[in-house]
Amino acid sequence: MSDIKSEISKLKKNKNAVILAHYYTRPEVQDIADFIGDSLALSHKASLTDADIIVFAGVHFMAETAKILSPDKKVLIPDPEAGCSLADSCEAVKFSRFLKDYPDHIVVSYVNTSVGVKALTDICCTSGNAVQVIKSIPADKKIVFGPDRNLGNYLKSVTGRNDMVVWDGACHVHEEFSVEKILELKRQYPEAKVLAHPECKKTVLLTADYIGSTAALLKYASESKTDIFIVVTESGILHQMQKDNPSKRFIAAPPVDSTCGCNDCNYMKLVTLEKIYDVLLNEKNEVHINEELRKKAEGSILRMLNSKF
Ligand code: 13P
Ligand code: SF4
Repeated sequence: MSDIKSEISKLKKNKNAVILAHYYTRPEVQDIADFIGDSLALSHKASLTDADIIVFAGVHFMAETAKILSPDKKVLIPDPEAGCSLADSCEAVKFSRFLKDYPDHIVVSYVNTSVGVKALTDICCTSGNAVQVIKSIPADKKIVFGPDRNLGNYLKSVTGRNDMVVWDGACHVHEEFSVEKILELKRQYPEAKVLAHPECKKTVLLTADYIGSTAALLKYASESKTDIFIVVTESGILHQMQKDNPSKRFIAAPPVDSTCGCNDCNYMKLVTLEKIYDVLLNEKNEVHINEELRKKAEGSILRMLNSKF
């Protein structure tokens, strides 16, 4: 293990490469990253780096977002099979057909989408800024939000924009948490705070003491005076939570089926040190995007990144 870590480090230096990782990746991947973040922080980082090569330790739409923002850089993905069930729940062709019914609407898309969907979008958002993005749209404008129905419904309840049209997509990890098991854990640990990601179902969010993006949950856990938490999001986040707060206890919320391990994102977990080493060494699995499509998609991300919320 330490060999592969030092080989990756040497390659990074020689090739002026940077490794960006999401908090849902394996602990050992997070530990060798130059930067770990949630989707919002990673988008910012990808647009600002002066590295020649970006190795994106995450899923495909994240690497694609980095390429949209940094078209002159080589963006490599350790495993091209690392997709996203949420992004897959909204195909660009179907979304385009859907939008024909809402010609006068502002289109807001979660960043968990393909470049094709982003090209149809007016402004992107992540879970870290979705509330501000919706609030920034004048009250007399109608909105289509895609693709996450749970985040969409959560946004309706927080912003009062109840007429927002929401695409019917979801993430297979965040859909699977069991309300009954969370309530059972709350009975067992009455002092525990429940932290949940807004991609979870409404019934799950109702059990939460705090709802936020991956980065917001990490911040809350560190700043809270409580020292036991039930964490309702992808289990990879526990690595950083525990690192930041060694004396606190974090319990991963269980999915409905306790044998499936489905509070792990199987796509994020495809990223391994071996694959990172391989793509860096051989400069393979490069992300390519048609330039016309890239330009169409870029505006929706830049509008998000340049907004002063
Ligand atoms: P954030 O990084 O915005 O918290 O989103 C979580 C997620 O599901 C990423 O795939
Ligand atoms: Fe996609 Fe869900 Fe995995 Fe995030 S956790 S990458 S939304 S499948």
